[in-house]
Amino acid sequence: MTTHDAPTRFGFLDCNSPIAPWRLDRQVAESAAAEPRTIVDIGCGWGELLQRITERVPAARAHGIDSDLELLERGRAAARRRGIDDRLTFVEYQGESWTEPADLVICIGAAHVFGTGAEALRALHPLVNPGGRLLFGECFWQREPTEADLADMWPGTVADEWRLLPDLVDDAVRAGLRPLRVEAVEQHEWDDFESQFLADKEVWLQANPDHPEAQAVREQADAHRDWWLRGHRGLLGFAYLTLLRPVA
Ligand SMILES: C[S@@+](CC[C@H](N)C(=O)[O-])C[C@H]1O[C@@H](n2cnc3c(N)ncnc32)[C@H](O)[C@@H]1O
Repeated sequence: MTTHDAPTRFGFLDCNSPIAPWRLDRQVAESAAAEPRTIVDIGCGWGELLQRITERVPAARAHGIDSDLELLERGRAAARRRGIDDRLTFVEYQGESWTEPADLVICIGAAHVFGTGAEALRALHPLVNPGGRLLFGECFWQREPTEADLADMWPGTVADEWRLLPDLVDDAVRAGLRPLRVEAVEQHEWDDFESQFLADKEVWLQANPDHPEAQAVREQADAHRDWWLRGHRGLLGFAYLTLLRPVA
C-alpha cells in the first residue's frame, strides 16, 4: 500500500469519517430497509457507505457528488467491481450547487461544503423528498471549548465552528427534520480513524526514510498527531443523525 514517490491517500480507511464496522453495517441496513428509489451523497469521497446501500437496494439509482476527482475514480472503480456502476454515478461537482432531490440524502463529514452545520441542514432539507431521510454526519463539541483548548486545535479553529450535540439536533429540527436516530462515535472509533489516516504517511516513511520528502512528511504526520492527541481527543465528538423529512 505504498509507492516510492509519495504516501498513499486514505489507503488504510474504508470510510473517510470515524465509524466502526458494526455501525457502518447498521447504517447500511437501516438506510436500505427504507428502500429509497433515489440516493444522493454530497461530499461522498469514494462513497463506501453509498456503494453498500446502493448494492442492497436493487431498484435504487444513486449519485455520489464530490469535488476530488481522485476519490471519485476510486469510487467508480469500486462500483464497477460491485456491478452497480449502471445505477451509481460518481459526479465531479460542487456539492453546494446540487439541486436534484432524492429519497435518501447523505452528507457525512462534509457540512463545511455549505458552511456551518446549521447552514448545511437548511440547505439539505429541500434536497430530501417529503417522506425521505437525511443521514448527516458532523463533528460536535463534547463540552464548550476553552481558549486553551482552541489553542491546541488547528490554527484558526473557533468555538462557533461546531455545536454541542443537543444544539446540533435542535438545528436539524429547526430546519424541518425529525430525528429518527442520534448516535455519536466512541473514542476508539476516532482513534482508529486518526491512526488509519496517519498510516499512509507512517508506512511510507518506514519504506522511504531517506527520500527527499521524508522530513516534510514526518513533520506533517507529527503535526496531525499533535492536533489529535493534544487537541481534539476527548473534546470533539462525531455524530450521525438519521433525520426524517415529514410528508407535510
Ligand atoms: C471528510 S471527507 C468525507 C467523505 C465521505 N462522506 C466519507 O464519509 O467517507 C469530506 C469530503 O468532502 C469533499 N468536498 C469538499 N468540498 C467539496 C465541495 N465544495 N463539493 C463537493 N465535495 C466537496 C472532499 O473532497 C471530501 O471527499
